[in-house]
Amino acid sequence: MPRLIRLLLVFASAFCLSAAATPMTSIRPGELWPDDRGLHIQAHGGGILKLGDTFYWFGEDRGGETGGKKPSERKIACYSSTDLINWKFRRQVVHGPAPEPLFGSPYILERPKVFHNARTGKFVMYVHLDDASYRAARVGVYVCDTVDGDYAYVRSFRPLGQESRDIGQFVDDDGSAYLIFEARPTRGFYIAKLSEDYLDVAEETCFVQSRLEGGALVKYEGLYYLIGSWMTGWAPNNNQYATAKSLSGPWSEFKDIAPPETKTYGSQSTLMLKVVGSKKTSVIFMGDIWRPRDHQDGRYLWMPLEIGDGRLWLPEPREWTLDIKTGETHFLHAR
Ligand code: GAL
Repeated sequence: MPRLIRLLLVFASAFCLSAAATPMTSIRPGELWPDDRGLHIQAHGGGILKLGDTFYWFGEDRGGETGGKKPSERKIACYSSTDLINWKFRRQVVHGPAPEPLFGSPYILERPKVFHNARTGKFVMYVHLDDASYRAARVGVYVCDTVDGDYAYVRSFRPLGQESRDIGQFVDDDGSAYLIFEARPTRGFYIAKLSEDYLDVAEETCFVQSRLEGGALVKYEGLYYLIGSWMTGWAPNNNQYATAKSLSGPWSEFKDIAPPETKTYGSQSTLMLKVVGSKKTSVIFMGDIWRPRDHQDGRYLWMPLEIGDGRLWLPEPREWTLDIKTGETHFLHAR
């Protein structure tokens, strides 16, 4: 190897190590987000599972995906954190070609969401599985005995017999787990309860007649807030929200979550995460800023939401910090 390249590599790895060694104190929406190795986090379209004091972030690992080409092997990565700011790469928990021939090659494996079933002790992962042209429209189920082990493929199916593309996850206060999935032919999306072992979608809780995807749900002060994006592929649009007193509805009219011209500040809804602290309950909007020509460079827009009394609003993105113990959030720069 030429000397100059070797030198550059030494500098690059020293930089990565120093970036990894210094704990971060803030979240910077839209910027590169280094993990404990100093590498940009690969957890696009992700989901979060909390076990004890540790959060696990699962998402599409698009490392190496450039040039807009669909890969024949797909990966799902798992990261852990106790403060939601510093993330440790655990491992790739799913990795490989399509788990069934029907999806072909290349194939689609998107928006992983992991649930922990207290009864069986199993970790159950739902994903959007598809062929390269998004026509199969199925969910896939994987299971594992440990949170970050190798997830074993179980099967794929169409929940409630419906086409299913973008999926979302929600666990209610009573511990019931729900899958949110978008079903294009019905011009709407479903909130559906999982079976007791979480391996199946058991029943329709609500059909929401609105052509939205990227569905995410949170319960805050007794009210359910549902968000979603319009169907514009990788391009951002003005994401919407509605509220209801019961998961089965009726849902209010959908409204913009941010000034419409900002197109949700270039992001698409993926999840809402509730952080219950000793002083405050905060709800974090987790959105993806997609870079379809260079997926591995896709960014995350995480921001604390203004939420309450039936209103939900995504403030303009800026650097912020979170006290995981108290649940309080602070913007670092005055506006
Ligand atoms: C988006 C969806 C992404 C991905 C993309 C493909 O609307 O939310 O997860 O499927 O379409 O175009």
